[in-house]
Amino acid sequence: HAPTQDDLKKIAAFKAVEFVESGMVLGLGTGSTACHAVARIAELLNQGKLSNIVGIPTSKKTHEQALRLGIPLSDLDHHPAVDLAIDGADEVDPHLNLVKGRGGSLLREKMIEMACKKFVVVVDESKVVENLGMSGAMPVEVVPFCWKYTAEMLRGLFQRSGCVAKLRFLGDGEEPFVTDNSNYIVDLYLEKEIGDLNAASDAMLRLPGVVEHGMFLDMATTVIVAGSHGVSVKNK
Ligand code: A5P
Repeated sequence: HAPTQDDLKKIAAFKAVEFVESGMVLGLGTGSTACHAVARIAELLNQGKLSNIVGIPTSKKTHEQALRLGIPLSDLDHHPAVDLAIDGADEVDPHLNLVKGRGGSLLREKMIEMACKKFVVVVDESKVVENLGMSGAMPVEVVPFCWKYTAEMLRGLFQRSGCVAKLRFLGDGEEPFVTDNSNYIVDLYLEKEIGDLNAASDAMLRLPGVVEHGMFLDMATTVIVAGSHGVSVKNK
């Protein structure tokens, strides 16, 4: 039978785990793709095929999963040099730039994935795009204080791209979604492509209410894409 989207996520994740070696400090990603990699790492540890792994989880959710599966855990304070991180993404462009954070974990992900020697991104083919920010939300983590003001500033930055800025809510409710770092997420929806991604990144980070944004530029060293016609591995 044809592979489901979850099968493809699992294929990409398992392929990435082939890069893992005993003794590594590993960034553990967040989301429905990365969780397959975390489960696979735990399986290989339990089988004795890997040893001396230290996992650095990129979210509270992944922390819980890894703890439950028995992966030894630490953080960047204790292990500032990460050998390899494996994580999913919401969009991947031809230059291996990413949009992340539709799951809400972008800040910890970016801190840990900036600190690693190798950053392997695992996606199914639906995540591959020509231009970032067009297939859905571009998430921005903001401080709750006067978030409307920050959202309006963000919208203004992307006015030429036809931007709508929306606070993220929990499910269908009226409670704002709160990140692991007690912040809010403003999702930017763009009609036209961003153009200069680095300039857009700098401009967002200059806004005092912005903590971090979901564009991961020039960070991925490898992208593994699983599709119905097989797996492709692109290196930077
Ligand atoms: C979490 O905040 C995100 O950056 C995820 O890595 C991203 O949303 C991909 O998740 P899925 O693998 O579930 O699509």
